[in-house]
Amino acid sequence: MAGAFKILVVNGPNLGLLGRREPEVYGRCTLADIESDLRQDARRLGVSLLFFQSDVEGELVRRIGQAAGEADGILLNPAAYTHTSIALRDAVSACGLPCVEVHLTNTAAREEFRHRSYTAAVCIGWVAGFGADSYRLALEGLVRRLRAAGTPRAGIEKRRSGA
Ligand code: DQA
Repeated sequence: MAGAFKILVVNGPNLGLLGRREPEVYGRCTLADIESDLRQDARRLGVSLLFFQSDVEGELVRRIGQAAGEADGILLNPAAYTHTSIALRDAVSACGLPCVEVHLTNTAAREEFRHRSYTAAVCIGWVAGFGADSYRLALEGLVRRLRAAGTPRAGIEKRRSGA
């Protein structure tokens, strides 16, 4: 999709197990279901998507680091690393792309250790608690923000030139 905004969707540890993983908490949708629904939403919105999932913190950091120059924005469900990873927070901050944090569950209503997010403060927004719909809502919010800011990948050029 030439000239369309490109968004990298990053999912962290254990999200590859969705569908089988504590379905009473996370629902019955698999990550493949979520990605296929998001692809439809992306088509409707006229944007393109890249997907990445890893259980390994360093791989998530590396993928986010590669996103500048390639994508216009990021949807990130850091999963458990939300609550522990300064490295992931620094990666989001360093890549300079607008990022929306996504959670299936309302982490603020769960165990206390899930109340803290290291990554939320370097994101432009945060969507949690709507199950698989959290991803669609986050995508819509990110696309609105990108459209308001300008043309695809313009942000990267601006950041490179320091404007
Ligand atoms: C999660 C919430 C995290 O606390 C948890 O560790 C996950 C999933 C969510 O999408 O609700 O793995 O990010």
